[in-house]
Amino acid sequence: MLDLTEMRSNLAETFDLAPSMTLAEEMRDIHARMDRVIPLPDFARYAPYIREINRLKREKNAVILAHNYMTPEIYHGVADVVGDSLQLAIEATKVEAETIVQCGVHFMAETSKILNPSKRVLIPDMAAGCSLAESITAEGIAEMRAKYPGAPVVSYVNTTAEVKAASDICCTSSNAAQIVAAMESDTVIMTPDQYLAQNVARDVPQKKVVWWAGSCIVHEQYTPADINDFRALHPGVEIIAHPECPPNVVEACDFSGSTSGIIKYVAEHKPKQAMLVTECSMASNIADALPEVEFMGPCNMCPYMKKITLEKILWSLHTGREEVIVDLAVAEKARVAVERMIDLSKKLGL
Ligand code: 13P
Ligand code: SF4
Repeated sequence: MLDLTEMRSNLAETFDLAPSMTLAEEMRDIHARMDRVIPLPDFARYAPYIREINRLKREKNAVILAHNYMTPEIYHGVADVVGDSLQLAIEATKVEAETIVQCGVHFMAETSKILNPSKRVLIPDMAAGCSLAESITAEGIAEMRAKYPGAPVVSYVNTTAEVKAASDICCTSSNAAQIVAAMESDTVIMTPDQYLAQNVARDVPQKKVVWWAGSCIVHEQYTPADINDFRALHPGVEIIAHPECPPNVVEACDFSGSTSGIIKYVAEHKPKQAMLVTECSMASNIADALPEVEFMGPCNMCPYMKKITLEKILWSLHTGREEVIVDLAVAEKARVAVERMIDLSKKLGL
């Protein structure tokens, strides 16, 4: 496990990381992408880390793939590629650098490793897990297959490599409905997110969708009453949810989509007021690009995504830790399920 005290003293011995208003002023172009949410004096604390991370990336031939839930100083300061799970998986197939630093959760780093077995994939904190990925094992997949013989297993990418290896195809929140609709069988097993599966079942009524009972600890917390009460207080607000929310929450909202689908919707519709029913960094990351939109309402923090910080990214690049290793035989099988998803998504024009 990462020893924060050791990490901090090692970083302090190696780098000059003192907050610096002078450096922050020099990096105004980077700060301009987040100045609506991070005041300059706060940015002065991040600036030395951003400078060192960007320098080490070049020195070590590394690329940073960052999920849309990363905090603004990561998203705008050091990421080379940002996106939702599908975009990050597709981008991972195009990486030329020797090292990938995955700023997101462990299953995302594993997906990058599965798609790039010869590259070094680092995650700044191994403890960045996911409640969905933890909810099912390969035995769970076998249980579902025994219960619904012959039905294909569509597993959300929020799963371990072993679960992917035991599945027929993967999906993400941006292609789940289309992937399920494209399966030949009338019955389709979806794992491990019960709510994503129920949202897909509503949108793909021609299939009998059966599911595993996992859920996301961030999105399961919302209720239809939260949405309706907020709308009553702010008539005219557009409310946009991630499909990991329960179906009755999604139905109370104006739109539902993957994290990138949400960003695209808000950028295109530019509502006067928007509430994003998802992780808190989403609104912060797009606030500067959309000054005409007032982001309001509650959001929930993903404790796993928030384990990734600038200091841990710097530590990771500096020490080459923590390296993500996937058993070769498991990775080979898991790659089939991930590549099937990528190929089918491209064929469907997604
Ligand atoms: P997206 O694929 O929509 O980015 O979702 C990933 C995730 O973990 C959301 O909770
Ligand atoms: Fe997993 Fe939910 Fe966090 Fe996404 S937000 S990584 S699904 S726990």
